[in-house]
Amino acid sequence: MSQISKGHRRQVRLAAFSLIAGVGVFGTLGFTSSNEMNSADSTFTHSDEDVRRRSFDFYRQNIEPMFVRPRGYPNGGGNGACVMCHTWQTSLRFQLEDMTDTPDGWAWTEGQSQMNYDVVTQLVNASDPESSKLLRKPLAVQAGGEGHTGGSYWESSDDAEYQVVREWIEMLPEDQFTPGPEPVLDFEFYSTCVQEVFRTPKYGQLECTECHAGGQMGFAPRPANGTAWTDAEARRGFDVIQRLVIPGNPIESRWLLKPLHNESGGSYTHNGVRRWQSMDDPEWQMLAAWVRGERTGSDCSM
Ligand code: HEC
Ligand code: HEC
Repeated sequence: MSQISKGHRRQVRLAAFSLIAGVGVFGTLGFTSSNEMNSADSTFTHSDEDVRRRSFDFYRQNIEPMFVRPRGYPNGGGNGACVMCHTWQTSLRFQLEDMTDTPDGWAWTEGQSQMNYDVVTQLVNASDPESSKLLRKPLAVQAGGEGHTGGSYWESSDDAEYQVVREWIEMLPEDQFTPGPEPVLDFEFYSTCVQEVFRTPKYGQLECTECHAGGQMGFAPRPANGTAWTDAEARRGFDVIQRLVIPGNPIESRWLLKPLHNESGGSYTHNGVRRWQSMDDPEWQMLAAWVRGERTGSDCSM
């Protein structure tokens, strides 16, 4: 109950904030040009501290405003502002701080921006900027995007926002902002053990397949022959599920959190079923091990 009213208050506040911030945010994009950045190179030494400060300043001026930029109303054909989902609605790795009420309106304090910076820099890959989640999630799938529950924001990599984000990622030092290798999810284990979960409901609940057979959330396609999945069907589901997990990181993997009870660390909402009471559930443990890259093959023992 208190959670609900908290969420509601935030929504009201965000709407008010959007009105105030409605003008001007876009105007600051690209404000700090890369030329200015380069000219500073000659006077500053490249200590870690300098690099961090410059990339943080750029982030605060150009990237963070993008997260609050209003984009019309979702039910009017527009997209929500990133903060609508990425401050509170979802239990995700990309979770921004809850804004502070300041004399100038709702804003992130410098300390909060620092915390946001630490989160957002986990979504980039300075060695290969275009592979960064921060660039690939909001980009339309037709243009090379990865698919995103929040929708697509950039029709192509020519979009001004895309370009500014890329410029920022390019200025981050590769040795500090390159994610480690991710484990590879095993397809055989998926097609034998994971798919079994989709069609064997627990506690008399509906099967995942009832609601997740197609579309954006279609990680559990229905086998056309009614009994077994063809390889092509399984591949389709496997592609979708990869978008909903973070390999190596089960506790931030949406797919394992949505059906987990919310008092045991699961998502706050799921318009479907809660299959696991807690992370101790042997099935949850088995699936988590697969997400960590530890389970392969066709042995589904728990
Ligand atoms: C309607 C809710 C919603 C909105 C609005 C939204 N997102 Fe998302 N976003 C999600 C959800 C849910 C996920 C996790 C599932 C997925 O990756 O598709 C996600 C995932 C992401 C990820 C991957 C996070 C990770 O840990 O790998 C990034 C990056 C991202 N969003 C960026 C953005 C940006 C930038 C905006 C605004 C331009 C935005 N999102 C707007 C819901 C939203
Ligand atoms: C009665 C229908 C229903 C059933 C059964 C159901 N879900 Fe869902 N699920 C939904 C709806 C509706 C949403 C979107 C709204 C939300 O996030 O709650 C959703 C969202 C999700 C998401 C987030 C998808 C995204 O694109 O971000 C995941 C992951 C998920 N469900 C997993 C499961 C799993 C695993 C099962 C089976 C154990 C399951 N669901 C069973 C209705 C269902």
